[in-house]
Amino acid sequence: MCGIVGYCGNKNAGEIILNGLKKMEYRGYDSAGMSLVGQDKLKTIKSIGKLENLKKIYKENPIKGSVGIGHTRWATHGEVSLANAHPHLNTSETIALVHNGIIENYQDLKKELENLDYSFKSKTDTEVIVQLIDYYYNGNLLNAVLKSVKRLKGSYALGVISMNNPSELIAVRYKSPLIVGLSDDGYFISSELSSLVEYTNKVIYMENNEIAQFSLNNEYKFFNYNLDEIQKEITNIDLDSQSISKNGFDHYMLKEIFEQPDAIRNTLEKRIVENKIKLGDSFFTKEEIEKFNKIYIIACGTAFHAGEVAKFAIQKFTGRQVICDIASEFNYNQKFIDENTLTIFVSQSGETADTLLALENAKKLGAKILAIVNSENSTMTREADKVIYCYCGPEISVASTKAYTSQLLQLYLIALDMADKLGTMSKEEITDILEELMLIPGKIEFILSNKDDFRDIAEDIKNESSVYYTGRGIDFISAKEGALKLKEISYIHTEAMASGELKHGSIALMEKNTKIIAVVTQNFTVDKIASNLEELKSRGADIYTITTFNNSTVNQNSKQIIKIPETIDILAPFLSIIPSQFIAYYTSLAKGNDVDKPRNLAKSVTVE
Ligand code: F6R
Repeated sequence: MCGIVGYCGNKNAGEIILNGLKKMEYRGYDSAGMSLVGQDKLKTIKSIGKLENLKKIYKENPIKGSVGIGHTRWATHGEVSLANAHPHLNTSETIALVHNGIIENYQDLKKELENLDYSFKSKTDTEVIVQLIDYYYNGNLLNAVLKSVKRLKGSYALGVISMNNPSELIAVRYKSPLIVGLSDDGYFISSELSSLVEYTNKVIYMENNEIAQFSLNNEYKFFNYNLDEIQKEITNIDLDSQSISKNGFDHYMLKEIFEQPDAIRNTLEKRIVENKIKLGDSFFTKEEIEKFNKIYIIACGTAFHAGEVAKFAIQKFTGRQVICDIASEFNYNQKFIDENTLTIFVSQSGETADTLLALENAKKLGAKILAIVNSENSTMTREADKVIYCYCGPEISVASTKAYTSQLLQLYLIALDMADKLGTMSKEEITDILEELMLIPGKIEFILSNKDDFRDIAEDIKNESSVYYTGRGIDFISAKEGALKLKEISYIHTEAMASGELKHGSIALMEKNTKIIAVVTQNFTVDKIASNLEELKSRGADIYTITTFNNSTVNQNSKQIIKIPETIDILAPFLSIIPSQFIAYYTSLAKGNDVDKPRNLAKSVTVE
């Protein structure tokens, strides 16, 4: 959700900024821009649409400078237009600023500035910040930025440069991620690691309420908001640029679908030693678990679906009730949480604003906080009491695939660990499940090897105006995740419906050739769902069934059976989601959509 970059060093900032923006384009891609300071001039270029357009402008009219900032936008305030694209400038066009986040009190500040005769060119919340800086500016850029950010409510990561301070880059962070890269060639700032790894492996993670000053004479300083200088720890990262390349695949999504077996193997190797789960300090002790009176799982989107599937596993393994809540709903509803409640937050990015706010709310009520996160060093990892990492490598495609199965795995291991500590399962029962889990990567590989089968289904559904998913129990959650995948990248209206609920209204939508994708993997509901499919078929629906069974009623009522390997029922979600990921991928491709960067979306949703 918007990405910012900045550079201050002995190279030309233009190329570095464009390069950095390219790596983060998936965060937001409706417009882009950059500003450079060089030879006492401030130059800005902007474009609408993909970054390629900005690159073109830069190639035709290269701008030069050793200090610069750049931005790739996902519109929040104001439509997609050049005026609303970042960087934003003060009236005299001497100061430029890029922003990731949302300023909640921008209307009040705007009025205040308008009363001081400031005028505004854009509809963004960001422009007020640069005009505020202008207002406070008296030659000292750092002070002006600091005075301005103290007036802001909301969230921000900012990069600021000025023509009158041509050798300086100022960066500041509050509730939006910002990372600093250090190299012999200069200093970099970025919303994420991916755009830094090409230049350096030495990074500093900025915390809330920190402001940094970088200068061309090889100096950098960090301050708190009282302007006390602070010492920051330098972290050596081992992320390589290979892991964020497409590695020969046409799209990141396809690459990430294929990475799932290895991602699962990596976690199993790390967390299972001699058939025993080793979560160590990452999870709670037996005594702590025994005290939990309630378990909440809170997340958004795909991560929420991982939580909903895990609810079945935790309840089955531990006999404890689990409440799942969408973060944005949790935040504004009554909460039944106290110091004995375990709250589990699931997030690929660790930066999702709704989930972070939910975490903050749960913390205020005294709950114990466990975060399941993929992005190391993200905000969520710092706010939680305990963190379990997904270790599935950077996920670049906006549509989440490998993060989902990795989240599932971490949650299942937690469920088993809890069952072990609470004594709700025997060692043998746990070992049986672990042994079956070890087989999951190979079974996913079998489905991957048949990927071309899904192209035909994509051809069948690509021109539909609606597609429906259906399932019961845990299969209904896999259906919800399948529907989310399909709708977000194919733009076909897709809805998941609980099979038993169809007759209570939704079946009215069925007509000849309505396309249904059914998920059927659970022994104790297979006969029930078989009848539901019969009801759909008799209304003319074309049913594509993802199933572990060879069930005659299911077979008879399906237009096509998508047979997946058998496993124990509770582990079926690891397998049943893979066909849905492919169906979504190939449908998006068949429709000529941008698979990795679907419209209106962004990878990291850092606004509420
Ligand atoms: C869908 C998708 C989103 C995210 C959601 C939460 O494919 O990726 O629904 O799952 O925005 O994001 P994280 O996991 O980063 O908190």
